[in-house]
Amino acid sequence: MRKPFVAGNWKMHGSKASILSLVTDLNSKISELGNVDVAVCPPAIYADFTKRTLSSERISVGAQNMASEPVQGAFTGEVSVEMLKDMGCEYVILGHSERRSIYGETDVEVAAKVKVALDAGVTPILCVGETLEERESGTMEQVIAAQLDAVLTVVGISGFNNTVIAYEPVWAIGTGVTASPEQAQEVHAFIRNKLAQLDATVADRVIIQYGGSVKPGNAKELFGQADIDGGLIGGASLDAEDFIAICKAAG
Ligand code: PGA
Repeated sequence: MRKPFVAGNWKMHGSKASILSLVTDLNSKISELGNVDVAVCPPAIYADFTKRTLSSERISVGAQNMASEPVQGAFTGEVSVEMLKDMGCEYVILGHSERRSIYGETDVEVAAKVKVALDAGVTPILCVGETLEERESGTMEQVIAAQLDAVLTVVGISGFNNTVIAYEPVWAIGTGVTASPEQAQEVHAFIRNKLAQLDATVADRVIIQYGGSVKPGNAKELFGQADIDGGLIGGASLDAEDFIAICKAAG
């Protein structure tokens, strides 16, 4: 049985004051969380503050990106995986569509980062997903397969023993348009079946989150699908009540 996992992607939001308020609200509701793993991913600079403000280990901390260089060095502006670990991060979101589209991260670069994270013992949350154009032109499966294949080439199927996948249709991120439970399930099954061709056990265990306009009102139905194991939550993770309600819907 896979244990559902819900992670909040705070994106480039927050300040010490707003994070203190959000985490204080989360702390007061931690006991309400059901049988679900939970993480929040603040901007890296607030990871340590978030970790220290959380009252329990029940909620883990993750980052939203990291350097592809495995060691420290002359890489101005970058944050290494060891630094993230040092600040208490157990997870790192990699290949988010905003990183791919705004910062031009390629499948190959994302795959290299996944390896660096795995080697350091930080769990990657690997984001995959198609644009509306790709869906409408019938190349959705090809695009997602290529995103997965790039990672498989570098870390092999065994890398997915310690990798979380987040299926996030680009057209559903921050738009208020959610994939229907059936649309999401179809892609989740495609991803799991693709991995099952390489190793059925790994495929059966891998957590595949859905992301894209998940809200308290649609979470239960999405998470009720056979191959959807929780979610990666953007906007709604900035509201403690909504985020906890979404976690509960998964647990
Ligand atoms: P959203 O973002 O929930 O605001 O659509 C999800 C994400 O980008 O991870």
